[in-house]
Amino acid sequence: MENLAAIILAAGRGTRMKSELPKMLHELHSMPLLSFIIKALDGAVSASLSKKILVLGYKDKAIKAAFKGLDTVTQERLLGSGDAVKRAKTHLSGFKGDVLVLYGDTPFIRKETINELVKKHRKDKASCTILAANIKGASGYGRILRDDDDNIVRIIEERDATIYEKVIEEINVGCYCFNKEDLFSSLDRLKINPKKGEYYLTDVIGVLRKNNKRISSVLCKDAVEALGVNSRLDLARANDIIRKKVLESLMLKGVTVVDPDSTFVSMDAKIGRDTVIRPNTIIEKEVAIGKNCEIGPFARIRSGSVIDDRVEIGNFVELVRARVSSGTKIKHMAYLGDAEIGKNVNIGAGTITANFDGVKKNKTVIEDGAFIGVGSIFIAPVRVGSGAVVGAGSVVTKNKNVPARGTVVGVPAKLLNKRRKK
Ligand code: UD1
Ligand code: CA
Repeated sequence: MENLAAIILAAGRGTRMKSELPKMLHELHSMPLLSFIIKALDGAVSASLSKKILVLGYKDKAIKAAFKGLDTVTQERLLGSGDAVKRAKTHLSGFKGDVLVLYGDTPFIRKETINELVKKHRKDKASCTILAANIKGASGYGRILRDDDDNIVRIIEERDATIYEKVIEEINVGCYCFNKEDLFSSLDRLKINPKKGEYYLTDVIGVLRKNNKRISSVLCKDAVEALGVNSRLDLARANDIIRKKVLESLMLKGVTVVDPDSTFVSMDAKIGRDTVIRPNTIIEKEVAIGKNCEIGPFARIRSGSVIDDRVEIGNFVELVRARVSSGTKIKHMAYLGDAEIGKNVNIGAGTITANFDGVKKNKTVIEDGAFIGVGSIFIAPVRVGSGAVVGAGSVVTKNKNVPARGTVVGVPAKLLNKRRKK
């Protein structure tokens, strides 16, 4: 799309989060809240956006560090969303066209919706097009007021609304497309809201209407898109919405999730068909699991883990940066960090890889067909050869590699004069 710019507001203090961390950096499925709207915007119009400006204020340096490479402007005094948009004016001095204004705390607005908003705005030749949603018993949102002919008159914030206005179900999602000239000339006419001591961007609508400008709207197809994250309760709701969506999509692809209510799987996880995920299992980001595996109950698969087909991982097993090849069983109470486990290995209950030496993380390699007895400890870096046996309760110390088909036992583990038959 041509002649289009975007302003993303992310300067607010996030007071309702009651947090030292700026709201935009609170995590939603392991990603900063702000990244969601940026992703939707990029997906919608990135190639054709003339300018994309991020307005920062509260703890701007921390947000800047997390979102490198973006064009930013600082709102020195947090005087409201209307004032925040004004701060971007000088950055758009040479620009002519339409300006999208988005809020950093609305993670569920879809790229298709942003596209539709711009399209409708241009089709209607509007001064402003508002993204609206219908929500029964809405709370915390600005309400859209219309006249008898259904034309938008203004937006009233909840704290300023009468009881009659509060029952209006059509709410302001917080995503707009403006004609640039009309936007900035209206911003100059805004009056400060006496209750909050802020300039409301939403008051621009009333100003435009008074000047007989055309105001249009697009209705969200799915009301979930409207969710604004203001408090930790909202954040938990948002997390849950994504969690359920991720599980639904996995189930539709052929993964069994025995108890969706107690299961967490990261958005980016890849899981193969006919794998069964049992209750109370957590699968974190950057994890891939093959087909026909059994995971859980009570398993925690942490980032960087890759699990091949037909692997069984049982209760109270934690994996991090672990690579587990096909047919291997790790069925009870184990911690395998920075480990590479071969095919058809049996890992006994209570096995631990001591991967951290106090300075750096070291690797444990256990080759194909090895048999690891219960309660074994591996002080990494160490390697166990294929077909080797480690006796119950052994402590295999640093660099004391176990030869292929060799048997070790004891603390520290010693090699027995015995070779395992193939
Ligand atoms: C805002 C809307 C409301 C809408 C709701 C949707 C206004 C006045 N109200 O209310 O109509 O229904 O979003 O979620 O806009 N910000 C700044 N600088 C400031 C103040 C805020 O950049 O000085 C940014 C915030 O970081 C946030 C956005 O503006 O990204 C909205 O601010 P917030 O305080 O969350 O507004 P709401 O009360 O949610
Ligand atoms: Ca908000």
